[in-house]
Amino acid sequence: MISDLTTLAPTLDGRERQEALGQFLTPSPVGDFMASLFSTLPRDVRLIDAGAGAGALTVAFVRRACAKGSGVKSIHATAYELDTKILPALQATLAECESLCRTRGVSFTTEVHHADFIQTMAGKLSGDLFSTSAPLFNVAIANPPYKKINTASPERLALRSVGLETSNLYTGFVGLLARLLDDGGQLVAITPRSFCNGPYFRPFREDFLNQMELQRLHVFESRDAAFRDDAVLQENVIFQAIKGKAQPPIVTVSSSSGEAGASITAKGFPFAEIVYPNDAERFIHIPADTGHASATALLSDLPASLASLGLTVSTGRVVDFRLKNALRPAPGPGTVPLLYPCHFNGGTVHWPKLEARKPNAILDNAETRPWLVPSGLYLLTKRFTSKEERRRLVACLFDPADVKAEWIGFENHLNYFHANGKGLERKLALGLFVYLNSTLVDQYFRCFSGHTQVNATDLRKLAYPDRATLEAMGTALKRSDSSQDELDHLVEHHLHGFQQTRPQK
Ligand SMILES: C[S@@+](CC[C@H](N)C(=O)[O-])C[C@H]1O[C@@H](n2cnc3c(N)ncnc32)[C@H](O)[C@@H]1O
Repeated sequence: MISDLTTLAPTLDGRERQEALGQFLTPSPVGDFMASLFSTLPRDVRLIDAGAGAGALTVAFVRRACAKGSGVKSIHATAYELDTKILPALQATLAECESLCRTRGVSFTTEVHHADFIQTMAGKLSGDLFSTSAPLFNVAIANPPYKKINTASPERLALRSVGLETSNLYTGFVGLLARLLDDGGQLVAITPRSFCNGPYFRPFREDFLNQMELQRLHVFESRDAAFRDDAVLQENVIFQAIKGKAQPPIVTVSSSSGEAGASITAKGFPFAEIVYPNDAERFIHIPADTGHASATALLSDLPASLASLGLTVSTGRVVDFRLKNALRPAPGPGTVPLLYPCHFNGGTVHWPKLEARKPNAILDNAETRPWLVPSGLYLLTKRFTSKEERRRLVACLFDPADVKAEWIGFENHLNYFHANGKGLERKLALGLFVYLNSTLVDQYFRCFSGHTQVNATDLRKLAYPDRATLEAMGTALKRSDSSQDELDHLVEHHLHGFQQTRPQK
């Protein structure tokens, strides 16, 4: 069965077509770098390039395999590609590979499948009656298409049939490739970084880490780098992994600017620092720089969790499009304040903002009341920050003294910290404000999370200073519009004090 992309794509052009197919081609320096990440290659290579496009990755691999001393004697390259229009370019690249191999005395054969990789391979792997069994490969290279797949889509059902539960095409591709490798077979892929800590990717992480040994992670320092700059606001990661069950003691993590020829900084980290041993979420931490390494080390020493502080963080309960009829541009009779991230104003809330495009108020009635919270002192954080924003995590204080009302609506694009559904004590709220707005926490999130989103789950899992330390920070805070330096100074001062006085473990 061929996905409806085949029928859809020919009718589309340019950007739309590119997006329908998740088609973002790898520039050759990135391809060459990816090919350089394979460790010793087998003598007889059985290569798979899934979603091959014009063959940029296959040719990069062939260049590497044809280099002196690689030991490769033959390559059988299998390419899967759905897009009819790109097939001539793929054939031309494969011809180029053949001629390169010929000059180096390497035998080169190919198989091009103009077919849906997911449907074909899931069919073979699940051993459905009409399919032959899946071929096995010893080398896989991929820049898979990136596209959300919803629960009832044919892709999702096909992946489910081989035990893969995942919400994006790219993790579907990687999950299938892991299954298609021989033991000891190697995979190098470039993908968005969202699988490392996105809550929806937990089953994928579990599945992947149970069968692939993660050897190498590479990130680009600039978010625009690599090649998806005309696509989405995504950061990419390149990884190399080997089919097997024993994770390596050390994972090499490297980074580069993303410019061709840029220098690469690399460092080894114990696997236990990349995936924490008892982490049920199986988050993959990517410590890209020393700032992050020290932030992680400092945070891992903090004693409190949000739960131990008696606090919770929740996503704003008002989903505006579900309560459209109750929204009002301005406050009026029968309404209460409705807060969006656009109401953040430095460290505090500026409300109402009548010039903003967002509503400022919501009716308080039997339909809306379950989605409102009683007024009080709350700490709010943005769930999404723009690329230009200085920090990933932006926290601001909602003070009932500034916005008078009995009930408040917090919209779904923000998270709010509360104590059992009610407001926080002032000193504690101010302490949390200092901590969450610090460079320390920013560094942690910046390298931990590949996207601009900070979910309530991420904030729940964060380590916090104990209550006394937070209250001391809160007491020392003079103004909510303190500069970054002032906030950092407070955190350094109090966490340093905390570390000196904390009991020895
Ligand atoms: C991100 S592009 C990468 C192309 C190429 N590997 C490269 O690195 O330049 C992904 C490719 O996968 C193809 N594709 C999308 N869905 C596919 C599917 N279900 N089966 C096979 N190929 C698919 C797209 O047409 C696109 O060419």
